[in-house]
Amino acid sequence: MMKATAEAGSNIAFIKYWGVHPRGGEAQREPNPLNPSISMTLDGARTTTTAAFLEDQSEDSCLLNDRPAPQEALHRVRTVLDEVRARSGTRFFARVESVNGFPTSAGIASSASGFAALALAAARAAGLACEPRSLVSLALLGSGSACRSLYGGFVIWSPHAAGHAEDSVRQMAPASHWPLTDMVAVVSRSKKEVSSDRGHRTAATSPLLEGRVRNVVRRVPEVEQAIRDRDLAALGEAMEADALGMHAVIMTARPSVIYWEPATISVVKRVRALREREGLDCYFTIDAGPNVHVIAPQEQAEPVTRALEEIPGVLEVLRCRCGRGPRLTDTHLF
Ligand code: PMV
Repeated sequence: MMKATAEAGSNIAFIKYWGVHPRGGEAQREPNPLNPSISMTLDGARTTTTAAFLEDQSEDSCLLNDRPAPQEALHRVRTVLDEVRARSGTRFFARVESVNGFPTSAGIASSASGFAALALAAARAAGLACEPRSLVSLALLGSGSACRSLYGGFVIWSPHAAGHAEDSVRQMAPASHWPLTDMVAVVSRSKKEVSSDRGHRTAATSPLLEGRVRNVVRRVPEVEQAIRDRDLAALGEAMEADALGMHAVIMTARPSVIYWEPATISVVKRVRALREREGLDCYFTIDAGPNVHVIAPQEQAEPVTRALEEIPGVLEVLRCRCGRGPRLTDTHLF
């Protein structure tokens, strides 16, 4: 039986991936980012996925949290499975089941953990090589940020030459290097207004994109240094500027999107006040949605969480630590 189960954590980007190079034909089917991105893999925001290639399957099927996957997700799952079939020579269709250990609509990227787990489970089930490097382009066919979840700790993903995606992702430091905590202040549980996929494709319509990419290229070595030195002030300053820059691009693209809710701004302002007036080392970042991720050292997680919970409009605060990379397990979902 060709079956395997993998578990992978989501990640939060300190320097965001926003915008792709136009696809370079068959030689380049994976997204190639306009700028390098740097993230921290999250523990406690994990997806478990079982994949099996079965002789009696008449088509690929996929259950997400016990429900049939939406069409768009199923399409991406099939793209990954097609690539696994092409590499391994198996002709069987696959049965895939996936569960998230965190609320899918909470603004933690379930596509990152989901496609990292799928890449590993499907590769293993089909007898392919399973080290992270061989899984990069499989994960990328599902979602760009998923390739960073193939490694634990602190990870960088850079633009790559056509056909060389496997060398584009690298672990900068393991999780043990710096025990940071990500507290997600959830201000809305509704589904994203516009998918990040569409945002990557329309980013170039913003007059601010060029300036953003230039800034990111300058910031990347600063962030790498800040991670090496465990310098949260330097990391935090760059991280906040990067998130605001990405949202400026999103707001000024065509069509323009505003992901923020009023409570998003309340959290941002409170985080700055906590830092400036109450001496807490916390910094924010915001993905393509309204929820705010607040990064702080583990020993300050308690007071920061309490302060965030008191902000009107914050529905709940989820807490994740910096975590390890994906792993295979024998506890299958079917
Ligand atoms: O991996 P995608 O295509 O869902 O894009 C992720 C985009 C951001 O989460 C906003 C930024 C990032 O680098 O994770």
